[in-house]
Amino acid sequence: MIDLEEFGIQEGISEVIFTSMSIEGTPNAAPVGLHMKNGRLFAMIYKSKTLDNIIETSKASANIVDDPVLFVQSALSDIEPREFDFVEGFPVLKRAMGWIIFDCRIKKGENISVVELLAVKSKILQRKIKPINRGSNAVIEAAVHATRYVVLKEQKYLDHIDHYNTIVQKCGGPGEKEAMKLLYDLIRL
Ligand SMILES: Cc1cc2nc3c(=O)[nH]c(=O)nc-3n(C[C@H](O)[C@H](O)[C@H](O)COP(=O)(O)O)c2cc1C
Repeated sequence: MIDLEEFGIQEGISEVIFTSMSIEGTPNAAPVGLHMKNGRLFAMIYKSKTLDNIIETSKASANIVDDPVLFVQSALSDIEPREFDFVEGFPVLKRAMGWIIFDCRIKKGENISVVELLAVKSKILQRKIKPINRGSNAVIEAAVHATRYVVLKEQKYLDHIDHYNTIVQKCGGPGEKEAMKLLYDLIRL
């Protein structure tokens, strides 16, 4: 049995990068929140490539990643094929600190589908201690608003992004600043 706590997954929402694959074998990556409730794990997924792939294959992998650039890239564009590794033919991220492959049970909804996640295989590749960096957290918040902005194009999302950018510039390191630059480039395409 896979112990999700070993992966730092606790009650509440943990932000990870989901990898999935189309029936034709094209890998995809996108940030998704893992919702742990009463010991059961779910994802709430809007219409997206990730949802299409999960419907096609009933499989997904949660990659535990602390790289802000990878979060922004996978949220707003495609990540490079060389970023993927394949485990028994299923894509995971090379740069993940760990991954869990799930069998998915999908309850399809009009706008959002609820996907229960049953862990089948997992690996921890790296254990790190890392203090909280407000800049890193701010990149994740900005990326959430950016994914809403690209769909809804409302000014309030740009205002939120600018607010989080001030925190990134104050508290972030080079990785966070690069991620923020990429975010602005990708939403202004
Ligand atoms: C930190 C973060 C968490 C996200 N969580 C979710 C989520 O739980 N469900 C969802 O449908 N989209 C979520 N998104 C948005 C998707 O990642 C985004 O819509 C992405 O472009 C989907 O890509 P795809 O079409 O390649 O699957 C999140 C984005 C970020 C930045």
